[in-house]
Amino acid sequence: MPLRFGILTVSDRSSRGERADASGPALGGLIRSRGWEVVRTSILPDDEAALRETLSAWADRGDLDVILTTGGTGFASRDVTPEATRAVVERLAPGLTEAMRAASLQVTPHAMLSRAAAGIRGGVLIVNLPGSPKAAVENLQVILPVLPHAVQLLSGDPDAEMGH
Ligand code: MTE
Repeated sequence: MPLRFGILTVSDRSSRGERADASGPALGGLIRSRGWEVVRTSILPDDEAALRETLSAWADRGDLDVILTTGGTGFASRDVTPEATRAVVERLAPGLTEAMRAASLQVTPHAMLSRAAAGIRGGVLIVNLPGSPKAAVENLQVILPVLPHAVQLLSGDPDAEMGH
């Protein structure tokens, strides 16, 4: 079964139509190149309540394995994607964000400014990525290899433990 993704772009300017969303399509291209599926995409402003609502609704619908967000993870006062994510997940998955920051530090010291969070709600993995298309793709590339096993474990597949 191909992995099923939702991609949520978080940007005030893109949500108002002032800037084209380049990051969502860039992430979608990488996902489809793996033979995986992009089931749902949306663009939201940097509004914590709206983000919480969409993240929980998407996770609870039962048609996604992974939700990726792009944007809103930095230090600007409007950057609240990690707060919304932490509010809706039941368990954190810090290994993913640790790995992304460690790899990104090899690219730019600005990786230290990412406050990205990752966690699990029900059977769905939610991962924050940075906002620029380049940074979003670089970060997704770091975690791509472990996503099939992560999703298999979340699905409760009894054979999943065999893959360790
Ligand atoms: N990670 C990688 N691999 N490449 C990058 O260019 N940019 C950083 C960082 N992570 C970057 C990166 C920058 S400049 C910031 S401010 C933080 O991600 C947060 O980005 P965001 O506010 O767009 O979410």
